[in-house]
Amino acid sequence: MIISANLKTNFTRKQTSEYITELDAFLSENGISQDVLVFPTASALDRFEAKVEVGVQNAYATVNGAFTGEIGLEQIEEFGIKTILIGHSERRHILGETQEVIAEKFNFYKELGFKIVYCVGEPKDIREAGKDTMMEYISKQYDGIDTTYENLIIAYEPVWAIGTGLVPTLEDIKDIHSELKTKSKAPLLYGGSVKANNAKDILGVENVDGVLVGSAALKIDDFKSMITDAQNLNKEDR
Ligand code: PGA
Repeated sequence: MIISANLKTNFTRKQTSEYITELDAFLSENGISQDVLVFPTASALDRFEAKVEVGVQNAYATVNGAFTGEIGLEQIEEFGIKTILIGHSERRHILGETQEVIAEKFNFYKELGFKIVYCVGEPKDIREAGKDTMMEYISKQYDGIDTTYENLIIAYEPVWAIGTGLVPTLEDIKDIHSELKTKSKAPLLYGGSVKANNAKDILGVENVDGVLVGSAALKIDDFKSMITDAQNLNKEDR
């Protein structure tokens, strides 16, 4: 399974480094065989010699150039990073990224062979408008995206569940994930208020291949506990 932490705009460079070091020790000491991904804030990026895979939360579709406030391939490559988060709802809804911009980013980093964690998900009013409207909305988030890309991971993250403590029912997650699997066979993560006390149930749902965790991942013990849940579930599967 894929257990990932989106640290968003949290932690200093020092805190991030301590977090990754502690997490890495935890993975080794406990023989964790799950994929653990961490997306630190841009100023805390570094060349981490760790089992934990480090990715960027965002980057512009450029090698370098005049794009104030952005980072590009040159800055990412310095740290040997080959993983990127694209289409997160905060970038869509707070930073105003359009599907066109997102698709451009996707294709740029796809051509470079990056592992892409691509986020989709609907806001509350769309969810309340019914399933057809919702699936139509989510389908548009696949526009311009190569759903067969071999290094693709998709994260289904309902916008209304992010940072709110609200979570769809397990039945709903199962239903939506099975629909999304018909669009792409890529591993499919669930994200949105995943916590230490609900991760196990969510990870147990059919077609959930992992989780993308925000606020709860800031507490390293909680994040470790989710990794342990994934590890234990995997064992039960065998
Ligand atoms: P949350 O965020 O876990 O705080 O809801 C998830 C995300 O935005 O990826």
